[in-house]
Formats: sequence, C-alpha cells, structure tokens
Amino acid sequence: MSESYFLVERDDRIATVNVNRPDKRNAFKQVMWDQLAAIVRELRDDPAVFVIVIRGAGQKVFSAGADISEFGQRERSEGEIAADLAAVESCLLTIKDCPKAVIAMVYGYAMGGGCALAVTCDMRIVGESAQFGIPAAKLGIVYSVGATKSLVAMAGPANASRVLFTGGAFDARTSYEMGIATAVYPDERLEEETYRLASEIAGNAPFSIAGAKKMIQTYLRDPEFARARDLYDLPVRSFLTADHREGARAFMEKRKPVFRGG
Ligand code: COA
Repeated sequence: MSESYFLVERDDRIATVNVNRPDKRNAFKQVMWDQLAAIVRELRDDPAVFVIVIRGAGQKVFSAGADISEFGQRERSEGEIAADLAAVESCLLTIKDCPKAVIAMVYGYAMGGGCALAVTCDMRIVGESAQFGIPAAKLGIVYSVGATKSLVAMAGPANASRVLFTGGAFDARTSYEMGIATAVYPDERLEEETYRLASEIAGNAPFSIAGAKKMIQTYLRDPEFARARDLYDLPVRSFLTADHREGARAFMEKRKPVFRGG
C-alpha cells in the first residue's frame, strides 16, 4: 500500500477530503488520482455520507496540479503516458458519476490538475484568495478531455479559450464572472459558508440530489437526452420513496423533514 496523500474527515452527513501535500502546494503525484478515485467510491457507497467537500489541506492552496517533478523523472512510453492520463480521466469521471453532491472549497491556487479537479466538482465555493489557471500551454501539454469539457460547459468556449490559450491565473472575481467560481466569499468566511451550503444539501433527500445530478451530468454528455430514456423513470421512482412521503408529511405538519435516504 502506498502512502495516502489524502485526509478524510467526517462530520454528521458531510465528508471532507483534504488533498494533503502542503509542502508541495498539494500537487498531485500520479498515484494520487487512483487514491482519490478510491476515496470517492468509498464515500459514494457509504450511506452515512450525503455530501462530499474536497479541499486542499490548510488555507493557502487548493492544488498546484500535477507534480511536475515526476514528468522528468523517468522516460515513459506512449502506453504508459496513456495509462497515466486515463487514471486522471477515470478519477474525474468517478466524481462526475458519484450520485452525491461534491463541492470544491478553494483557497488560493487551483492550477492545472488542481483546476481539473475543481471544475469537475458540482460547485466551486471559493475564497477571495482563489486563483484558477491551466498552464498546459506553458508546459507543451494538451489538457484533460473531461476537465476541458467541464470548463467549456461552465465558462463557454470563449472563456475556456482565454484560460487554455493564455495559461494564465485568474483571480476569484474574474473566475466568478467567467462562470468558473460558483460563489466567492472573504477567506475568513469561506469554511462557514461552504459548510452552510453542504449542510443545506445534506438536509435534503439523497434520491433527489442523485436524480438531479444524474440529469445534469447526462445533459452535459447528451443535451437532447436522446439516449437517456431511463432518466424519465427517476421522477416516477421518486414518488414511491419513503423520503418523498416524509417530505410531504413534514410540509403538512409544518416541520423539518428527516430524510433517511430511502
Ligand atoms: N509540481 C511539483 N512541485 C510543485 C508544484 C507542482 N505542480 N507546485 C509547487 N510545487 C513545489 C515547488 O517546487 C516548491 O517545492 P520546494 O519547496 O521543494 O522548492 C513548493 O511546492 C512551493 O512552491 P512555490 O512555487 O515556491 O510556491 P508559491 O506559493 O510561490 O507558488 C504556485 C505557488 C502554485 C503559483 C507555483 O508553485 C506554481 O506555479 N506551481 C506550478 C503550477 C503548474 O504549472 N501546474 C500545472 C501542472 S500540469
């Protein structure tokens, strides 16, 4: 078993995944993509977890992206490069396919692979210190397929071009205007606001969140829902859940619903 570069904390229904390499600005060694995918799968399968927050350990940086020191360490064959990049794409897909809300909480830099991770999450709640950037063009790299797709979907082709063609870093306000940051708060309020949002979502019915996320993710792959007839079953099935009965009963009784994920 290789050393884990993540720290997972659980509080009530919310799990927090810390990218934990602070001395290297939380840069991702290759092995970390498999580690993160395994953690997300474990949290996906844990019925006690309703919402996942992904953050960089500490309050300085989200992640400086791929560990550049590994690039020059060994000569990789084309097949090895393809396998390494497939592990990145597979991790991003695991997050997109996770039926739970995944929130990126961003202090400081989210660069390269760090930006890929952030744009793959369902929302990016960021501090004023946040900086998003994809320096792939400065390193002679073509960026991730899955992350580019997420970036274009949220920021549009012109802003995606601006980010990818310049390789520059964009501050919190500019990232918000481009549609990359979902909400911006002063750094000192970032945790409070992120966990307020996470708690609000964690108080809602898991089947509703999972159904909404599946529709949103399907839209991004197949906007006409042409190959997604099964999506129409989700609203039907929702009316048969215990959580729906609880939600309706709670409304009539003028109280907060208690959802159990059934
Ligand atoms: N890969 C490997 N090491 C990295 C790294 C990365 N992506 N980003 C930072 N580090 C390391 C530095 O080498 C340094 O290590 P050292 O203390 O052993 O010298 C340490 O982390 C601190 O980095 P430093 O550059 O001094 O921090 P900073 O706060 O001044 O700047 C960044 C932060 C993120 C702006 C800067 O580190 C940076 O530009 N990193 C590269 C980002 C990038 O190009 N990512 C895309 C990769 S595909």
